[in-house]
Amino acid sequence: MRTQVGIVGAGPAGLMLSHLLHRHGISSVVLESRSREYVEHRLRAGVLEQGSVDLLRDTGLGARLDREGMRHEGIELRFDGESHRVPMTELTGRAITVYGQQEVVKDLIAARLDAGGTILFEARADRLSDLDTAPVIHFRHQGRDEELHCDFVVGCDGYHGVSRPTVPDGVLTTYERTYPFAWLGVLAAAPPAVEELIYAHHQRGFALYSMRSPQISRLYLQVPADADIADWPDERIWAELRTRLETVPDWTLNEGPILEKSITPLRSLVVEPMQWQRLYLAGDAVHIVPPTGAKGMNLALADVALLGDAFAAWYADGRTDLLDGYSRTALRRVWRAQQFSWWMTSMLHQLDADDPYAAKLQSATLRYVTTSPAYATSLAENYVGLPEV
Ligand code: FAD
Ligand code: DHB
Repeated sequence: MRTQVGIVGAGPAGLMLSHLLHRHGISSVVLESRSREYVEHRLRAGVLEQGSVDLLRDTGLGARLDREGMRHEGIELRFDGESHRVPMTELTGRAITVYGQQEVVKDLIAARLDAGGTILFEARADRLSDLDTAPVIHFRHQGRDEELHCDFVVGCDGYHGVSRPTVPDGVLTTYERTYPFAWLGVLAAAPPAVEELIYAHHQRGFALYSMRSPQISRLYLQVPADADIADWPDERIWAELRTRLETVPDWTLNEGPILEKSITPLRSLVVEPMQWQRLYLAGDAVHIVPPTGAKGMNLALADVALLGDAFAAWYADGRTDLLDGYSRTALRRVWRAQQFSWWMTSMLHQLDADDPYAAKLQSATLRYVTTSPAYATSLAENYVGLPEV
């Protein structure tokens, strides 16, 4: 099998890249180890920055997003028994849209298949070779070992993928931070009690109120890094959510059957550079952010927007400058998001129950960000996404 750009992974990064390349007349094949059913129903992020919404709309993927996505012009910060709204649109002129990652993935898969694109599901890439000259992706599909020959490989295969580990030791530098806590996320058949997201800081830990539709709530709780989902029956989850969220007068949580629950560890990670020979890396394959800033999917889309333009310049005029500059350019946004996500995480979580000084600093930061328009604008412009970094 042969194509111009071989893409490993059908998450938001790999699928959007294939879509962008198609619009430039460049062929690609996406290899995905999981089934279509699995990737279309994998529950993950939910917040699209303005730039991600613009990218989806500008490339013909805005129809369902505009119908079903929920535009939000502010978020609420809740702490010390008070609630404060950060008016993002008033401060920045821009907004976010709540639209589940799996909906983005469904829209992208439909667009690629409608356009005659090739996505091979249940096709696991095992090994990459000849990356210096004529790359080959060795993969297993329908019980057979196959090869995909291409001009370039783009590794969009997440942190546990095969692409990044292909790069020899000593080439890449890893910067990372792990946190002593995780998020327990639930999807509940309960109409959201509010229209905007609530980020709540509480001495028992962080809680986040989000939603997916007028009938479905999406909620998160900070839990210890080693928490076991078996120790979190539904009633315990609701009790903890009530404790952390029902801290302001006249506000009650809407409850309903829990449809799904899972625990995600929090970490920050960047691997540099994002390219080696004819292998380019994008999305979670090279950087992870803790979810507090809602940046993971947005960064993945921003990476491949750069790669789409860079391959277009290479195939149209043999220009190498955009491909050569990809890692340097992408890393500026990556590090901005790293700093913002770390800052939101540090401000909102219970960091150390035995450190009252740290807790006082968090309260001071929260009070400052909710009273100073200058500081609130900093939060808002990062949250809705900076056009240029
Ligand atoms: P992915 O979406 O991970 O896609 C990678 C794809 O590669 C997968 O489909 C995988 O099956 C495939 N793959 C891996 N190895 C191979 C191989 N060898 N061969 C072929 N295919 C392969 N972000 C937020 O902002 N908020 C959240 O609440 C949030 N929750 C998350 C929960 C979880 C459990 C995880 C893992 C991430 C979460 N994120 C969240 C982060 C966000 O979802 C990611 O940043 C986003 O999915 C990155 O997109 P991607 O395309 O780079 O990678
Ligand atoms: C959601 C996830 C996040 O990580 C976040 O910061 C806000 C919302 C969500 O899944 O809706």
